[in-house]
Amino acid sequence: MGSHPLEKFAGIAEGAAREAGQFIRAELGQVRAEHVREKEKNSLVSYVDIETEKMLAEALRPLLPEAGFLTEENTQTLHTGSDYCWIIDPLDGTTNFLKGIPVFSVSVALAFRLEPIIGVVYDIMQEEAFTAWLDGGAHLNGRRISVSDVGHLDDAIVATGFPYKAGYRPQLSEIFTEVLHHSRGIRRLGSAALDLAYTAAGRFDAYYETRLNAWDIAAGILLVREAGGRASNFLNAGEGILRAHHVVATNGLVHDEMLRLVSRAPLDD
Ligand code: IPD
Ligand code: CA
Ligand code: CA
Repeated sequence: MGSHPLEKFAGIAEGAAREAGQFIRAELGQVRAEHVREKEKNSLVSYVDIETEKMLAEALRPLLPEAGFLTEENTQTLHTGSDYCWIIDPLDGTTNFLKGIPVFSVSVALAFRLEPIIGVVYDIMQEEAFTAWLDGGAHLNGRRISVSDVGHLDDAIVATGFPYKAGYRPQLSEIFTEVLHHSRGIRRLGSAALDLAYTAAGRFDAYYETRLNAWDIAAGILLVREAGGRASNFLNAGEGILRAHHVVATNGLVHDEMLRLVSRAPLDD
């Protein structure tokens, strides 16, 4: 564990994410249909998401007792009057998890005034922990990572995801077609947090998605930035990105090209 306080907290958050991941892994294939609820159309949840969230909050609370919690399953208090807030998606890729597709993650971030300063994305089945802290770089299982050096979208592998909710379908199809035509290929993992972590590690060169929530992206955005990449909304605003719902994250070199493509089909934010 390092000497900088953020590095120390990041190490503890990584440990908590690994422990939460062990619980999730043990439950893979065990969740019965009657324990799955549809929160809203196509958005599933089970006791695994909820128990994991509580476990993470319990592990993190002692670090900053006054901090709030912005969490997907809403098991904690958000408004505590503190500038610090843990932003947690206990299980990103719930649909994959419930289907036995081994691509899902734990996403934990600490934000100060809603800007991420610690980010951990743990790929549970690969046992890969992606960890970053502000001005400390991005790391994969303790080794420094950086974004790719692909300079043109023609040569880029681009990740994306599709929102659960209907709406924007014509615009999304248009953007998808544009990206398909202008890139080497598209991937869809089913975990936004992992899409961003893979972008930070240079496995993907770019990522875009609409209708996300802060818990999907908070940790991953910091990973991309600390790995030397760029993250913004579709209009190229980087600040306040956790309030944005439409996100582009890249190695930096292909960011402007990506922005040109996604802006061809305007979306309200
Ligand atoms: C979802 C995943 C998916 C993305 C969806 C998210 P969940 O999160 O990140 O990749 O396409 O927009 O909602 O529901 O599995 O935590
Ligand atoms: Ca999510
Ligand atoms: Ca989730």
